[in-house]
Amino acid sequence: MAFREYKIGARLFGVALGGSMMITLYMPSLNIVEVGSTEMGLRKGLQYGRIGGFSIEDPFMKGEGKPLTVILKQDPRTGEQIEPVYAYVYKSGIPFTSAIRHPRIMGKGVEDMSLETGRIGEASQDAGAVFVVSEGRWQGKKIHYIENATATRDWTPDVIMSSVTDADVRYIGAGKIMFVKEGCWWCHTLLPEETQDWQVFGAPPRLGDFNSESPTALGSDRKAPDLLHVGSRNSSREWMLMHFFNPRLVQPHSIMPRFDYLWGSVDAQGNSIDYAKWRAEYNEYTAGERVYPPDVPEPAANSQARYLVDFVLNLK
Ligand code: HEC
Repeated sequence: MAFREYKIGARLFGVALGGSMMITLYMPSLNIVEVGSTEMGLRKGLQYGRIGGFSIEDPFMKGEGKPLTVILKQDPRTGEQIEPVYAYVYKSGIPFTSAIRHPRIMGKGVEDMSLETGRIGEASQDAGAVFVVSEGRWQGKKIHYIENATATRDWTPDVIMSSVTDADVRYIGAGKIMFVKEGCWWCHTLLPEETQDWQVFGAPPRLGDFNSESPTALGSDRKAPDLLHVGSRNSSREWMLMHFFNPRLVQPHSIMPRFDYLWGSVDAQGNSIDYAKWRAEYNEYTAGERVYPPDVPEPAANSQARYLVDFVLNLK
């Protein structure tokens, strides 16, 4: 090939690559600031924290540096019965989610109300803060916005945590890390498609559902059921625990790997988990020498299995 032709080809390639980079970087088809965040978008950001994947606060992906989701059934100050609310508790030093750090990503209206009525600008990461999602009207339209309950209701992380028991706490942020770390997205999606998928897996997400989740874990290739609404199909914690310990306990031909190691070394009572014994008894069961499989241990309150189950059951 003559050198001249080679030069023409190289230049054309440069123009094509440059042109496509230009389109990708400078001509985004969607400006997220124009998309008002939905209630789902706000809740996702608040429950997952700053980053729902690998991050500097949590380099080994153990679920550290994440907020807690607390279900409040009574006013933590007065003890009065209230309609249950989800409170997102950021203890001192826990990095705030992107929506609090950069309110403009919540989109027009949601940003304004969160700053003016919700007073999120007053929240301090060093002191810690508690957020809730509230409903309001902006230019005649009903919208949801973030309220800094530490400023508006004097709910501090300490007050909240001392008013509830562990049964009302969900480690959803840490659980999302487990979902990413364990590669659940290798087989499962969190994205029902806009096809007949709806009938099986429920509604696909909407645009404003993603304003402050970083990064999303939509999955790419589906080898197993979509999980976006799995908590609505199956809300049994017991089933989830059995299925994660060994999927074959509940679905005899499942190809899903077992995630028993997320239980760690001790169970909820502090007794060490004897995996070899469990396995031997399970083998007897599959060989027909036992009527029932061995019991799945109750995971410790701060085990990775508990985080994962809290995350999965919250997918509604
Ligand atoms: C090798 C592929 C694979 C991986 C990896 C995998 N799964 Fe699964 N999963 C499946 C298959 C296949 C099913 C359907 C059969 C069954 O229920 O076991 C399933 C079922 C499920 C269900 C029940 C779905 C329903 O519609 O009721 C849940 C919940 C689930 N998986 C969660 C997870 C989580 C969380 C992870 C990561 C910790 C994970 N899976 C990793 C293949 C996988």
